[in-house]
Amino acid sequence: MDKQNLHTENLINTDGESRQVELLVTPLTNAGLKTNIPMRRIWAMPSKWTFTIKPIRELIFKYVKDPSNWVDPFAGENSPAEITNDLNPDRPAKFHLDALEFLQQQTYAEGVLYDPPYSFTQAKECYDSYGKELFVEHDKKPTMMNYWSSCKNEIARIVKPGGIVISFGWNTNGMGKGRNFEIVEILIVPHGGDKNDTIVTVERKLAGLFDPQ
Ligand SMILES: C[S@@+](CC[C@H](N)C(=O)[O-])C[C@H]1O[C@@H](n2cnc3c(N)ncnc32)[C@H](O)[C@@H]1O
Repeated sequence: MDKQNLHTENLINTDGESRQVELLVTPLTNAGLKTNIPMRRIWAMPSKWTFTIKPIRELIFKYVKDPSNWVDPFAGENSPAEITNDLNPDRPAKFHLDALEFLQQQTYAEGVLYDPPYSFTQAKECYDSYGKELFVEHDKKPTMMNYWSSCKNEIARIVKPGGIVISFGWNTNGMGKGRNFEIVEILIVPHGGDKNDTIVTVERKLAGLFDPQ
């Protein structure tokens, strides 16, 4: 490995312990532009409760130093955000609305944690079927066609310029340049066997487009 592409960083874990990790700063092509995006790959056991996975939890607390005005529309069981929502009334969230409806009601966010179910099967088997209708084929349920992009548009509307969105899933699409976000860092968490990696994409909203009037 090219040593020039490695630099070390101190990470503070949830118990307040500090440890040094090596960051691979790798040139990635981002919409045709070559940019240096810090990217790490750390193995961990899988969990349907994403935020209990150790390297992911540590990354979240690097950004969520104060939970005030952090918003989480798919909060599950472990969100550190102040303003939490989960459609399932059995989850310990403040609101129990559909995520899009919840986001439409919000006006401001310091940052957003975006961790929806990743597939029909996952929604069915891990989350008591909540969210599985979001994965039906578009031609069968046209109302769902724009669901995910509508959620992301609402997030782009409410996050302050300079605010952070952390997206979890099986890709690095995140909010994207089209919504005026730049990638800050990427964490890949492989789980071994034939399991999908969990990919965490941290993005910052640039000033300009989508600023509140
Ligand atoms: C991947 S889990 C979130 C896990 C959470 N980050 C944690 O670590 O505890 C996704 C959550 O989205 C909820 N959900 C599914 N469909 C939803 C919808 N349409 N609106 C709001 N929440 C939904 C599920 O009940 C589930 O708790």
